[in-house]
Amino acid sequence: MSAGALPEGGFAAALPARPVPPHGPRLQGDDGGDIKGGIRVERLTGAALADRVEELAVLRLAVLGEFPYLYSGSAAYEERYLSDLAGLPGGLILAAFERNRMVAAVTGAPLDQELDALRDPFTHAGCDPRSIFYFGEVVVLPCHRGRGIGTALLEIGESHIHETGRFASIAFGEIVRSIDHPRRPNAYRTPDAAWRRLGYRLEPEIGGTLSWCDACDREETAKPLRFWVKSLATSIGA
Ligand SMILES: CC(C)(COP(=O)(O)OP(=O)(O)OC[C@H]1O[C@@H](n2cnc3c(N)ncnc32)[C@H](O)[C@@H]1OP(=O)(O)O)[C@@H](O)C(=O)NCCC(=O)NCCS
Repeated sequence: MSAGALPEGGFAAALPARPVPPHGPRLQGDDGGDIKGGIRVERLTGAALADRVEELAVLRLAVLGEFPYLYSGSAAYEERYLSDLAGLPGGLILAAFERNRMVAAVTGAPLDQELDALRDPFTHAGCDPRSIFYFGEVVVLPCHRGRGIGTALLEIGESHIHETGRFASIAFGEIVRSIDHPRRPNAYRTPDAAWRRLGYRLEPEIGGTLSWCDACDREETAKPLRFWVKSLATSIGA
């Protein structure tokens, strides 16, 4: 995740890999490619972001309001956050469109430009945050899930990160919710297997917390985070 959206500042969630997922989708990337089923992926910056930022904010708020985020934010905050993120050196926003409707997105930024709560766990573990790219939230509208769009977005994002040549690894955080959380849907399944398939590994030595007010709550509470990391040393040029 990135420096934004959740706790009026950010939180963790997403994932990544490389162009063209192993299980499937033929994507169309921002270089003109084509995703499965006619989905197009575009990197949003400048005027393109300005045109789409409202739609992106609505998409993110819809998905981030679900378990496990349960985040209740404002469109105004989201739009400000996304504009700031796009302006960061290394800030990354990719959106997937079907027939010109945005159906999914992923955000990210170099870890050294992230929230203290995300950066500090890595610094304390002896990692250099300048060498780590941090994926923020990956969000796919419910009716478009299971088509490989989330995986493909992460893979395209990862190829952008590779191209910079600046990063030794990619990380993202995941909220840890209790197994018996009252708002956990019966059908909820974690995407952990997909993250592993994409080459990410849980870092048991690195943990953190991030605070925000859950939807329906009145006060902020600290959410434990665990972090997934992929070394690019093993995948660059692979
Ligand atoms: C997680 C998420 C981004 C995956 O996007 P997607 O386009 O559905 O993913 P893919 O089709 O590429 O499949 C990747 C994994 O997503 C999960 N997934 C797939 N379809 C799903 C669905 N209908 N509902 C929930 N998760 C689903 C599975 O774990 C899948 O891995 P698998 O193939 O080993 O089963 C998407 O389900 C989403 O936006 N969820 C809500 C936000 C969220 O939980 N983000 C991650 C927090 S760590």
